[in-house]
Amino acid sequence: MFPTDIATLHAPNSRQGRILQSDRDADLFFTSRAGPVSEDDMDLHSRYPSLDDPRQQAQKRLPRFVWDYLDSATGTEATARANRAALDQVRFTPSILHGEITPDLSTELLGQSYPLPFGFAPVGMSGLIWPGAERHLARTAADAGIPYSLSTVASLAPEDVKGDSGPQAGFQLYPPRDPALLSDLLGRARSAGFTTLILTVDVPAPSRRERQTRGGLTNPPQLTPRILWQIMRHPAWAIATLRNRLPRMRTLDPYTTSNRAALPSNAHAGYLLRTSPDWDYLARLRDAWTGPLIVKGVLDAEDAPRLEETGVDAIWISNHAGRQFDAAPATIEVLPAIRAATKLPLLLDGGLSSGLDILRAIALGADFAMLGRAPHDAVAALGPAGPAHLVEVLTKDLTANMHQLGSHRYTELPACLL
Ligand SMILES: Cc1cc2nc3c(=O)[nH]c(=O)nc-3n(C[C@H](O)[C@H](O)[C@H](O)COP(=O)(O)O)c2cc1C
Repeated sequence: MFPTDIATLHAPNSRQGRILQSDRDADLFFTSRAGPVSEDDMDLHSRYPSLDDPRQQAQKRLPRFVWDYLDSATGTEATARANRAALDQVRFTPSILHGEITPDLSTELLGQSYPLPFGFAPVGMSGLIWPGAERHLARTAADAGIPYSLSTVASLAPEDVKGDSGPQAGFQLYPPRDPALLSDLLGRARSAGFTTLILTVDVPAPSRRERQTRGGLTNPPQLTPRILWQIMRHPAWAIATLRNRLPRMRTLDPYTTSNRAALPSNAHAGYLLRTSPDWDYLARLRDAWTGPLIVKGVLDAEDAPRLEETGVDAIWISNHAGRQFDAAPATIEVLPAIRAATKLPLLLDGGLSSGLDILRAIALGADFAMLGRAPHDAVAALGPAGPAHLVEVLTKDLTANMHQLGSHRYTELPACLL
């Protein structure tokens, strides 16, 4: 497991200071935090072995209002906690004596092969979290061959990430009221190389998100003394943000008063996009978009057959990480019923924070897993290197747990469920 030279190092923190004599000793020693590896020798993996490590680092590096924007849910945040608690309830029986295996981590979604079964979910104003976040995430996704999704309210426009995001990128749509604006937006997304359209349907109205309000973030953001104080105490974020353009929803620039004074006073994001679409809207969208169409924010199995009939290509099970409604079910909880109700491919997000979580979702019927906050924690903690590190951590965790289960491929996972 470890080369002999490592396994014979002294363990200064062990009670006897004895020489490590076996792989097992080395294993225990090198997985303990008190090991002798110097700070310089540490690679990212030894400092940030799980996704919780960059998360903690991100919290330190971000001003409170930014952290609260990224991390908060709504209400008492019970839905966000439910996502995690329900994932922990999904258990497997590990396998023994299964011999050598080489797990196959690849999968297919909407006719495309992917080397890994996860991708990056859309996050509005990523550039507020860390400047250039959209570009870092899009490039990492393209390099890893996994899908990236750009939000309608991202801080970069589709044209800005054109060429960065790889062939399988999705454009996430908050539905505009105005059909001409919708048509223009779809055309721009298509020309910028976005092949898949993701309609988000779980934001019928603005969310209250009390922790975010307490953190001091306003809409539009204002530089109050409190916010300035938070910024001053986080120089890495402040310098990185000052070096870049101040974040705003650039996709909407052509349609908003912030860009053109001549537009009517209701030409702001809140009015342009805050429609609650209905089934007719979805049907019209289906006609307007020739590529794959995914509906994001589904929690009720009874909606699945109608989505299928309307010509949707895949369903994205999501409760928006608990940011919209605080009494929603955990996504993993509703997954089996939705799986039973439709043959459509299923994507799922909500609290996934390890390769094991992704395996839990796949075992219960998901075709693909998506992550929202974790890739942003990674960028905020580690800059451009963060998302690639996240991909590596998840790959290692997927592999390690497939070995524990003795599974060569994902189709074998349901049989391992407890
Ligand atoms: C800061 C933030 C902004 C988000 N913005 C959007 C958005 O613009 N459009 C959207 O469909 N979902 C948005 N989401 C939801 C994510 O796409 C995704 O559903 C959720 O974050 C997944 O849960 P996870 O963060 O636990 O991985 C946002 C989530 C966060 C944390």
